[in-house]
Formats: sequence, C-alpha cells, structure tokens
Amino acid sequence: MENLLKKIEDYKKEIEGSTTSDAKAVEEFRIKWLGTKGIVKEIMGEMKNVAPDKKKEAGQMLNEFKIFTESKFELLRESATNGQQSMANQIDLTLPGDTLPLGSRHPVILMKNRIVSIFQRLGFAVAEGPEIEDDWHNFGALNLPAHHPARDMQDTFYVQQNPDWVLRTHTSNVQIREMEKGKLPIRMVMPGRVYRNETVSARSHCFFHQVEGLYIDENVSFADLKQTLYFFVKEMYGKEVKVRFRPSYFPFTEPSAEMDVTCFICGGSGCNICKKTGWVEILGCGMVHPNVLSNCNIDPNKYTGFAFVMGIERPAILKYGVNDLRLFSENDVRFLKQFTSAI
Ligand code: DAH
Repeated sequence: MENLLKKIEDYKKEIEGSTTSDAKAVEEFRIKWLGTKGIVKEIMGEMKNVAPDKKKEAGQMLNEFKIFTESKFELLRESATNGQQSMANQIDLTLPGDTLPLGSRHPVILMKNRIVSIFQRLGFAVAEGPEIEDDWHNFGALNLPAHHPARDMQDTFYVQQNPDWVLRTHTSNVQIREMEKGKLPIRMVMPGRVYRNETVSARSHCFFHQVEGLYIDENVSFADLKQTLYFFVKEMYGKEVKVRFRPSYFPFTEPSAEMDVTCFICGGSGCNICKKTGWVEILGCGMVHPNVLSNCNIDPNKYTGFAFVMGIERPAILKYGVNDLRLFSENDVRFLKQFTSAI
C-alpha cells in the first residue's frame, strides 16, 4: 500500500509538470497515461495486490488519480487547440498594407480652384449664392426687367411650383446678393454652376460653371478692370499671351466688353480651336451699370465698380484636351481618375 501511494505521488508530480501546446505531444501524453496499455490502466491492475482491508482506501486513491490524469489531459488538449487557433489568427506583419482607392479632383473643380486662387492673391474674397433663384436676383436687379429682349438669350429653366423661381442662368445673381448686404467696398469672386435650356451635345450642355468677379469702391475705373484682368491672364496663360478688349453689350454693365487672349494652342498663328483667328474669347466684363447699384441701395454717384465673368469648362477643355462636354457630368471614374494632380 505504501508503495502504491509513493508511486501515485511520483506519477502525479510527473503529470503536473507536463506542459505542451502541440497536438502530437498531447496524443503521446494520452497514450502514455490513459491508453489501453497506459500507466493508469496498469496501476489500476495493482488493486489485486492490495490487502482486503485497504482495498476501499486504495480504490478511492486510484480513482482520484485517474480523474486527476484525465483532467490534466483535457487541459493539455484545450491549450493545444487554442494554440493552433491563435497561430492561424496571427497576422503576418511583413505583408504590405491594403491600398485604399483615393478619389481625384474633378477637372472643373481643378480649373475653378486655379482661377479663384489667382484672384485671391489680389485680395478678392470668395462668395457663393443659390442655384434656385428668384426673378429679381437673376434678372430684375441686373437691369433686365420683364420683357427685356436680352432675357431671351438666357434660355431660362423655370421652376414649376413657383413662376417667380428660376434655375439661375448666370452667377451674376451673387453680385446682387453681395451688394444687398450693404458692406462696402466689395472685392469678390463668385464661382458656381449655372443652368440654361440648351440641347445637350458634345459642345453645349444644360448646365455649366462660371466664375464671376465684382469690385465696388470709390473711384474704381475701367483701367482697374483692365489691370486686374491683365494680371489674371499673365498668371493663367503666361507672360507672352496678348490681350484685347472688344466693345460688347450686357444690360448690367456700361460700358461692356469681351476679352480675348491670343490662342494658347497655336500662339496666335491660327488653328481649329481659335477658328483660324489667332484669338480666343475668355470673358465678358464691364463697369457695373448705375441702375444695378441703385437697385442694391448703393449710391452710384459715390461708388463705381467693375464686374466680369468667365466660363470654367472652356479653359478646362483646352487644358486637358477633353473633346466632349458631356464627359464632365457622366461620373465615369475612368474619365475622372485621370485628373489626380492639382494644377
Ligand atoms: N452674366 C452674363 C452671362 O452669363 C455674363 C457677364 C457679362 C457677367 C459681363 C458679368 C459681366 O459680370 O460683367 O451671360
């Protein structure tokens, strides 16, 4: 009996000391201790040598030893499978990271930013206004009363719910909204989307973008307008580009002009873009009409100002060699992702 006790104690120590996290060693443990020819079975066989009065005590001891061995086996098995799982979950830190697709800026936005930033350097602030506009801000205040023939040229979209509302036909509505605020002087550029009821084709669209400019202060002259636009052209198209003004008519400016630059494709010698003239029209401008100032409660005897507007699509088309206006609004990522760098 003492022998048996001693043996069990030694085995327990051995079992206690076994550690393993790999499945093969766990199986070896099972075979050694719990297998059909294992130690537990073998030691159970020793019962027959125990004196009858000690049998009960020995039986309990052996049973306890069996349970002890079995539970150690369970523990080892569990830690081995967990170990395997955690191996499987381990992240390979040497792998390169996943690349996330980055968006790109729209070519119209790139061109808008470029135009706007040139004027910002001259101290112009940036303002925006509503695209659904009332008749007064889109037409009336701009010296285009009802039935004025120039309204025809604007191919206006009217909003069905309210006959007084239109989709703005130009960004000039923001001029009015800014002047109405009554804070002078004003030196602002106003970029945005405008709408006209035109058939959609490669060369025209029912919406496009403009950047409007406005400078109102005492003693602002046409010379200031020219000098501002000269600066813009040099920054935008380069020092060698020449500029010319042609007299024009807009109801909200007097006098009015259109400004051309020497064709930046052929340099003035004549090509398809400039229709062999050597000149490309880039903007409309003029001195703000006194009626427009009065409509916004600005005293035209004290204040004068100039205004201008340029389209964004046309310079963008020329810069990027886009041959169809519709590409700008189709949201085709194959087209859009080509414009990844800022200009
Ligand atoms: N608003 C006019 C249009 O889109 C263009 C225009 C011409 C705006 C001359 C101006 C300007 O501010 O001075 O048809």
